[in-house]
Amino acid sequence: MGNTTSLARQVVGRLRQEVRRRYLEAGEAGWGKPAPGPARLLGPSASQSFRVGVIGAGPQGLAQCQGLQALRGVEIAGIADINPARLSTAGGRLGLPAQNCFEDAAQWLEETTPLDLLCVATTAPTHVMLGRVGIQTGAKRILLEKPIDVSLHEARGFVAECRGAGIPLAVNYSRRWMPDYRAIKRCIGKGVIGAPRSLAIILGKGELAMHGSHFFDLSRYLLGSEPEWVVAHLEPPTGANSRGANFEDPAGFCLFSFQNGARAYFDFSSDLQLKDPFLTIKGTLGRITVDEPRQFWTFQSRSQRVWTVPFVEAMKASTLFARVAAELLSDTPPASEGADGVAALEMILAAHLSHRRGHQPVTLPLASGEADLGLEFP
Ligand SMILES: NC(=O)c1ccc[n+]([C@@H]2O[C@H](COP(=O)([O-])OP(=O)(O)OC[C@H]3O[C@@H](n4cnc5c(N)ncnc54)[C@H](O)[C@@H]3O)[C@@H](O)[C@H]2O)c1
Repeated sequence: MGNTTSLARQVVGRLRQEVRRRYLEAGEAGWGKPAPGPARLLGPSASQSFRVGVIGAGPQGLAQCQGLQALRGVEIAGIADINPARLSTAGGRLGLPAQNCFEDAAQWLEETTPLDLLCVATTAPTHVMLGRVGIQTGAKRILLEKPIDVSLHEARGFVAECRGAGIPLAVNYSRRWMPDYRAIKRCIGKGVIGAPRSLAIILGKGELAMHGSHFFDLSRYLLGSEPEWVVAHLEPPTGANSRGANFEDPAGFCLFSFQNGARAYFDFSSDLQLKDPFLTIKGTLGRITVDEPRQFWTFQSRSQRVWTVPFVEAMKASTLFARVAAELLSDTPPASEGADGVAALEMILAAHLSHRRGHQPVTLPLASGEADLGLEFP
């Protein structure tokens, strides 16, 4: 009798394990959703054609254009850059005729038919200024590269102007469009790791605004909460910034505490040498890790087993941008709106403030005057 009971227990135990295994594995392709195909326009937009313009012909402007060229129904109406050499190289690589390449963005936008989407891929000090030219010349949607700007006052004002005019504004914090981070967010939402409490993001050697701000935005996205205070240590510059000597964008590390009690630690110190972002999200029941360069994520729930999920799509700027543009042109509400760009900018400025105040905690949101640091970053 005793043997039969113990056998029955074993069978029930194995069945439970099997059910749990199948439940977890069903999620591995993206938490119940099949891996997505290439980016494309959806709904009524799928049968329409759109004219898109890009300002800034640096590496990111080029990646944006390559993403746009992958979308059916999208025509690059033009690309603009104040640097003629950059403009001509980008035009050549994209196969754009000279009449679609412009040195004066404002003049081009005034003279051309209003764009369906204007993308700004210059460096941060001109993002809002050029976005405004877009609105004034009738652009129907605006995409600003991150960071949204260097001025919190200007960024907040622009978000309000776009809202007032009913113009969708997205900020390219691109991880929000990655199928894998979306799957991770769904996974957290389903409670697989319990309540997320602690996030550690070791970026490797990087810069606060250029790289750190991507992960500041990601922390808000994954934790579903707003930062409450920060303590930061930033390193003195060791040479001119590669995008211009006017830019100050230090390496360093910082700790944010969130309104829901969660914590996030970011390390982009220069002694980490390589840029190879690795992150861990620890919840009350389990944890998720993401290894970006090796393109996989793992999760561990209450059982001790670790589940490994390869990325469903390579992390490539142009591939991601195709997703951003496809969603915007399909009139899906932007995954990273103007307000998210403002929040990430506040996190950058608050980190600077904490460092300047001798690593004292700085409370968020920042008051307008407090945030006016006169800093330029790319
Ligand atoms: N979302 C992402 O994953 C991602 C990745 C890399 C860079 N970025 C962001 O994209 C932006 C551009 O990055 P980058 O590496 O190409 O920088 P970059 O400095 O190499 O290129 C910027 C280009 O903008 C041009 N420019 C500057 N002011 C202009 C103006 N007023 N009118 C027209 N052209 C102007 C410059 O001449 C330059 O060619 C930055 O804000 C950066 O933070 C985002």
